Amino acid sequence: MKKIVILTGAGISAESGIKTFRDADGLWEGHDIMEVASPIGWNKNKKLVLNFYNQRRKQLLKVKPNKAHKALVLLEKYFEVQIITQNVDDLHERAGSSNILHLHGELLKVRSSKNKNLIYSWKKDLNIGNLCEENTQLRPHIVWFGEAVPLLQNAIEMVKAADILIVIGTSMQVYPAASLVHYTKPLIPIYFINPNEVLNKYQNLNIINISKKATFGVPKLVNQLIE
Ligand code: APR
Repeated sequence: MKKIVILTGAGISAESGIKTFRDADGLWEGHDIMEVASPIGWNKNKKLVLNFYNQRRKQLLKVKPNKAHKALVLLEKYFEVQIITQNVDDLHERAGSSNILHLHGELLKVRSSKNKNLIYSWKKDLNIGNLCEENTQLRPHIVWFGEAVPLLQNAIEMVKAADILIVIGTSMQVYPAASLVHYTKPLIPIYFINPNEVLNKYQNLNIINISKKATFGVPKLVNQLIE
């Protein structure tokens, strides 16, 4: 079976009602990125950071996977499918995809701010005073700016094995995620689905731009690949 690797970003969840980060009315609007998504911000004002992610978590529990998330599940009948998502939502899981790597962490998990191995499922608000079993403050299980990306090497190995790469709804501005395309085997097709951006900054790669919204572009590409 051919291997398809799918790299997703905020754009695939946009039509479910979750704002992207960098579009005009994006998530960061009104927030200084470093205040809410960096270790410096966390050390400066934990309450602000917790509130930011509490809002995100509440919103996530109200939204649903869309046609794009669902279409990707169909591919599993015909291909070995691995999703690498930059998203911290669980919409790929709820749509029914089997193999999902969360490069930037997960909103519905929290972890000890001291011991990175103490990770817990978490659906309610996270507050000051919520402690891990070793009595240290819990923090969101999110990879913040300035932090290492623990699953990067796993993602690189997946991309290296791909026969087809599909990149959906990401601005390709955040590294190291954006550098994953460079690990593909020579000239495999790389489909880039994004209504607002065209991927042309990567020379020598076989990029096929699909300038459509995810809920239209993804089901269409999936049908094409299945036929
Ligand atoms: N369908 C497909 N793509 C869309 C749609 C849509 N309906 N709506 C918007 N987009 C595209 C935008 O054109 C943009 O290129 O989604 C992209 C979203 O880009 P960003 O907001 O930068 O999100 P992303 O690339 O996922 O950000 C990467 O940065 O902030 C950090 O850790 C955070 O994982 C995030 C990372």
